[in-house]
Amino acid sequence: MAYQNILTENREGILIITINRPDKLNALNGQTLTELQDVMHDLVKNDSVKAAIITGSGNKAFVAGADISGFQGMNKTSGSKLAEVGQNIFFQIENCPKPVVAAVNGFALGGGCELAMACHFRLASENAKFGQPEVNLGLIPGYGGTQRLIQLIGKGKAMELLMTADMIAAPEALQLGLVNYVTTSDDLLPKTIELLKKIMSKSPFAISRVIDCVNKYFEPGNDGFRFEYDQFGACCETEDFKEGTSAFLEKRKANFTGR
Ligand code: COA
Repeated sequence: MAYQNILTENREGILIITINRPDKLNALNGQTLTELQDVMHDLVKNDSVKAAIITGSGNKAFVAGADISGFQGMNKTSGSKLAEVGQNIFFQIENCPKPVVAAVNGFALGGGCELAMACHFRLASENAKFGQPEVNLGLIPGYGGTQRLIQLIGKGKAMELLMTADMIAAPEALQLGLVNYVTTSDDLLPKTIELLKKIMSKSPFAISRVIDCVNKYFEPGNDGFRFEYDQFGACCETEDFKEGTSAFLEKRKANFTGR
């Protein structure tokens, strides 16, 4: 499908999703969010896609936030709705059964930082900068930023970044655990692809269960341990389980189908 603000490329089973509004530093307007929702919906159903990368167009920004030009005139009802819609799209990413990784190639501010945090993990180029500058606008993050930043870097530092609106550079993001790797700009996509290829060589069914179990930890009121043993049991019913254990015993490489 052709999109207006998003580019997609299926590179050997990895869908590279590029937010493409470089003249606006890839800011997320309504159209872009709708397109992102469609892309996420399609990639789950598309058997030729095994994993995804979200990145930004150009070399300056991943995503510099929600599009501020659409903010004026918002009231309590429309503001809450905007945040709810955005949150639902980001939940779609977080709960995607296929791995979704952010390749952060520049500014990841506000909704951009939130988009990166909704992905399963993040890599950054050396020029990446992260921040939640909403308080500069008289706002707070609305796409899950107050929740996911705590999950990733802890309460004290999250409070500081959310209250000061300070931007942090890639090395500090690495040190805080917000990103897993920092690379040169040229190495960002190759390194992300290398990691995803490794993941894609494992059982897709088991990978989807890992995503679910890890996400369960953050759902209040859920017994993640119980969920884990149920999912462990579910894995035992799969062809992937038979193939993985047989391959080990036969000293050969497993060929998983995800069934
Ligand atoms: N929403 C809408 N437009 C945005 C945007 C956003 N979040 N971020 C950048 N843009 C636009 C700018 O308005 C500018 O458009 P113009 O050329 O039509 O004037 C263009 O992108 C380039 O940005 P500019 O500010 O000129 O680049 P810069 O290098 O001087 O500064 C930033 C880069 C990221 C520091 C700055 O753009 C910025 O602070 N953006 C807003 C970040 C933010 O608050 N995000 C959270 C939103 S909730």
